[in-house]
Amino acid sequence: VSLKEYNTFGIDKKAHFFIQAKEIQDIREAITWSRTQKLPLFVLGGGSNVLFTHDLEAVVLKVNIQGISISRESGEHVWLKAGAGVVWQDLVDHAIKKGWSGIENLSWIPGTVGASPMQNIGAYGVEIREVFDHLTAVNRETLQTETFDNEACCFGYRESIFKNHLKDKYIISYVVLKLNKQHHFNTSYGDVQKTLEELGYAPDIQSISEAVIRIRQKKLPDPKAIGNAGSFFKNPTLSQETFDRLKRRFPDIPGYTTANGVKIPAAWLIDQAGWKGKRFGQAGVHHRQPLVLVNFGAAEGKDILDLSKMIQEDISQKFGIHLEREVNVI
Ligand code: EPU
Repeated sequence: VSLKEYNTFGIDKKAHFFIQAKEIQDIREAITWSRTQKLPLFVLGGGSNVLFTHDLEAVVLKVNIQGISISRESGEHVWLKAGAGVVWQDLVDHAIKKGWSGIENLSWIPGTVGASPMQNIGAYGVEIREVFDHLTAVNRETLQTETFDNEACCFGYRESIFKNHLKDKYIISYVVLKLNKQHHFNTSYGDVQKTLEELGYAPDIQSISEAVIRIRQKKLPDPKAIGNAGSFFKNPTLSQETFDRLKRRFPDIPGYTTANGVKIPAAWLIDQAGWKGKRFGQAGVHHRQPLVLVNFGAAEGKDILDLSKMIQEDISQKFGIHLEREVNVI
């Protein structure tokens, strides 16, 4: 089976077996099947954060559990439960239509609900951890369903326990978010504020979502038109000391103070180093957001990976900073 339709980079690699799971029982059967076939099981969400560099001698499982429902409700909150296979934007639309706030800043992020806690998706001042209540996941060893609350997920910047200690140990089936009936907005991100002003909109869930979608559409390439997986690298966090030293050499370098140090935009580093808009055959660096690597159509995973390594080396040489990949390379 070709995986081309199942990854937003549009890389044409094959899976030995391909299974879609519509319910938890299908997940269990896929695990058992992969065991009898003596093949590894590879779990695919929306395919918006992976780069395939070779065919998969594996059972590829696409979790396609659907459904959005209220699992609990109080005067102030609603606990919204969604199947792992729900398209993330459909959940955002649902919340906005109902007037529940919390995920409007996370509008237009590609991918599925099941993948969203894996890397603690975040954008425009909000991370999913802020509204995440719990998830259920199938233990690949015991086939039992287990529950993980917010703390158990060990969320960090583009991180969770499912990318670290529990990598490849669980398959997420449902996610429950605790959304607000009383609206709390976050318009702290400069671009969001500016766009709202330009549009002449007062901040509410609908207008924030619209502003975010506008910004994303302006900056980020549409995977349907040109293959990509959003930010290819993470934004590095430096110690205050290292940042101050860099600032003396590069006075324009932007930095945002966080709890762990100073976060700097990798896009700025890549841009400064002259990579923005560069093309190497079928692979390239996007011309508006240099943090995004693109497939012009016929790139192999290896072309993109090679380009990413050239960038990493160059940034390391010029700035002494290691850019960590955000995308999962297979
Ligand atoms: N910049 C440049 N040149 C450019 C573009 C950006 O120098 O061509 C610098 C500017 O200083 C700008 C800064 O980069 O102010 C930040 O740019 P932007 O607002 O586009 O955000 P980002 O830090 O590059 C992160 C996330 C995005 C998320 C946006 C908005 C990561 C790795 N990426 O990008 O997430 O949408 O912030 O919150 O944290 C993703 O993870 O796939 C993703 C798209």
